[in-house]
Amino acid sequence: MPSNVNVKSPSLESLQEATSLIQAGELVAFPTETVYGLGADATSDDAVTKIFAAKGRPSFNPLIVHLPDIETAKKYVEFNEKSIKLASLFWPGALTMVLPRKKNCPISKLASAGLDTLAVRIPANALALELLKQCGRPLAAPSANPSGQISPTRAEHVADGLGDKVGLILDGEACKIGVESTIVGFSGEDVVLLRPGGVTREQLEAACPSVTSPSADSKITSPGMLLSHYAPSCPVRLNANSKDADEAFLGFGREFDAISTVNLSVIGDLREATANLFSAFHLLDEQGYKSIAVAPIPEMGLGVAINDRLRRAAAPRD
Ligand code: TXA
Ligand code: MG
Repeated sequence: MPSNVNVKSPSLESLQEATSLIQAGELVAFPTETVYGLGADATSDDAVTKIFAAKGRPSFNPLIVHLPDIETAKKYVEFNEKSIKLASLFWPGALTMVLPRKKNCPISKLASAGLDTLAVRIPANALALELLKQCGRPLAAPSANPSGQISPTRAEHVADGLGDKVGLILDGEACKIGVESTIVGFSGEDVVLLRPGGVTREQLEAACPSVTSPSADSKITSPGMLLSHYAPSCPVRLNANSKDADEAFLGFGREFDAISTVNLSVIGDLREATANLFSAFHLLDEQGYKSIAVAPIPEMGLGVAINDRLRRAAAPRD
């Protein structure tokens, strides 16, 4: 961890410090229920530029804007019947909706990479909500890691990756869900699933009958969904049933416990595995293995988000 890192536990003083930094256009990392976010005032071009610079993130990759409640969200984006329904079911929570920006929306165009839409969500984390209320600004916040690397689920992950680049890291508990939010857009009658995440496809389908995947000619896309992402420094090998010498084994379920270096969930529980995924990657990444072999994960429920992240972690790098 760099030596000049400002990490603080939640208190009236640290929230006040965070608020002052945000209002001064500086960066503050804060916990959410999915992963830690690297937050800045979404209405300020300067502050948003600092997010892209700190992460080394390409400017075509738009950011998610975090808001304290739906009334505030309605000031910035247009809702329709479907998005209102999803908001009422899943907010606060791990669902991000891509919606049309309102005319004269004061959110920096840099945050939405020049698009006419804005990705918005209300996080289900008491500290995040308190910060959003107290600072009175919408917070643009991508995951608080250097671009392309593993997302942070604990304050120390943020400190290790970006510690010297943020004004303050608010140290909440470990993130309960452990993967990023599910991102959806809207096209006619369809809810378009742009990124699998903490809210499952099954949950969305129970609310809206027509959940589709983005088609090749679809106008709705999720720019910045890079093939190689969430990547530890060593190679990752998927659907492994055994491990080679010098390899770490990331297990799932009792059958792999004997050979696991870390087991995501001995009892094969996808929720527990999701919460442990990025922490396990951070841990194994530090230990100098030749590669990481990963047990098969069922492609259902939260397993879809886990497998999406694993495929990106295993994808060829440039
Ligand atoms: O759980 C999460 O979503 C975390 C926490 C901090 O809230 N945030 C997060 O942000 O994962 P980030 O920057 O890693 O992901 C943002 C993604 C972009 O890569 C892009 O795919 C999509 O959101 N996105 C943002 N704005 C969009 C827009 N206007 N249209 C389509 N996709 C958009
Ligand atoms: Mg990210």
